[in-house]
Amino acid sequence: MRIEKLPPLKITLGASDHPYLSGPWTPQHEEVNAYDLDVIEGKVPTDIDGVYLRNTENQIHTPLGRYHPFDGDGMIHQIEFRRGVVNYRNRFVRTRCLQAEQEAGQSLWGGLMDSPKTSLRPGFGAHGFLKDSSSTDVIVHSGVALSTFYQCGEAYCLDPKTLDSLGVASWGPLDGVSAHPKVDPRTQELTFFNYSKYAPYMHYGVVDSNRKLVHYVPIPLPGPRLPHDMAISQRYSILNDLPVFWDEALLKQNIHAVRMHDLPSRFCVLPRYGRPDEIRWFEAEPTYVLHFLNAYEIGDEIVMDGYFQENPTPEPRTDVPPEYSRLMAYLDEYSFSSKLHRWRFNLRTGRTVEERLDDRVLEFGTINNQYMGIRNRYAYSTIAKPGWFLMTGFVKHDLETGKSWTVQLEPGRYGSEAPFAPRIDAKDEDDGYLVSFVTDENTGTSECILIDAKRFEDGPVCRIALPHKICSGTHAHWANRAEL
Ligand SMILES: [Fe+2]
Repeated sequence: MRIEKLPPLKITLGASDHPYLSGPWTPQHEEVNAYDLDVIEGKVPTDIDGVYLRNTENQIHTPLGRYHPFDGDGMIHQIEFRRGVVNYRNRFVRTRCLQAEQEAGQSLWGGLMDSPKTSLRPGFGAHGFLKDSSSTDVIVHSGVALSTFYQCGEAYCLDPKTLDSLGVASWGPLDGVSAHPKVDPRTQELTFFNYSKYAPYMHYGVVDSNRKLVHYVPIPLPGPRLPHDMAISQRYSILNDLPVFWDEALLKQNIHAVRMHDLPSRFCVLPRYGRPDEIRWFEAEPTYVLHFLNAYEIGDEIVMDGYFQENPTPEPRTDVPPEYSRLMAYLDEYSFSSKLHRWRFNLRTGRTVEERLDDRVLEFGTINNQYMGIRNRYAYSTIAKPGWFLMTGFVKHDLETGKSWTVQLEPGRYGSEAPFAPRIDAKDEDDGYLVSFVTDENTGTSECILIDAKRFEDGPVCRIALPHKICSGTHAHWANRAEL
């Protein structure tokens, strides 16, 4: 392995015992290019060609208030596979906020857990007082990697091959772009939404394959909401109005307190280029959903799979120091109890039918992205460590037969969201590998693992050493060479 280190940024964050600034959540501040990575075990497959991109949260400066891991500065990690050779690189997302804090030499914005008064400058996004850290999601659209922030920031563009910064997406509207835009693999149209505290509270848009905003419409809601993800089928986009959102009375006092309201879930179904008067709302059981897996059309129905939270607003944890009791509950999948779930929206009758697909606590699911918007048979979820926002295993589901297969990582080893990398000339939906980064707290190192999706329970078929230990984070994406 040959490593080139880039000149360091100005870092003021010191060692911390904060549960999400230490251990597997210790921020990585080094930026490197690494070539010909060393193989720890197995053989690097020669039948995948593309890049795995991973967004992680790496706080650069001492926080002004109480740190939440989603406040951390976005860093994109890329591992590239080509003809059995593997390279790695990582870069901070060069956001306006990162630049401003580099110039100031300190934090300028408070975080999700802080009062708006903590911020020293006006902030970004739906919340209005946060740093736009671009640390939530990463996808590739029309040859450009897009990094996004869940509270609606600017969409930051990077070259997916070099990770060079390409600036802010010119198509992004003033209300910003939420995390989880979706790209139709057949048309390269990108669909996205944003949300805000001001009427009409949500917008939806489509960006074409030339990266031009070609559709942008209001999605009128009864008040401010906190949607996180959306789904697309071939002809429709599915947005949501879920009953977990900021308390309106407290919001008037500038307090951003999330609570469960006595309301049903509502899902907005509209044609990809639909106008507001074409929206159809479908009611469903109250819940909150962080992530959807996929949606597709069968006859009169749209089928959508995702992770239904049985307890979206958990009680603060009593087994952790009080300053972390709420944070630790809201970051614990076992507290909010997210279960693989199916909604079926009948466009003829207007009715919703729901079904639980698995009783285990699961989240952060992926599919073979070539099946985005059409019927998929296989889904891949992650297993969390109870009490922690850390991934300790993977589950493959055959949604036709209900069968599932599990890979559990050894104690002290934590994975990342694991997208599916199809084999070159793949014949089947599950002909390929799950790709994940693993941080090993026993050795203080990180590696990349590949799981052959057809031999899932064999576990990793290849382990590749990364040049440094990476921080845990949220989302990841696989892009084939042809998409770069
Ligand atoms: Fe997300």
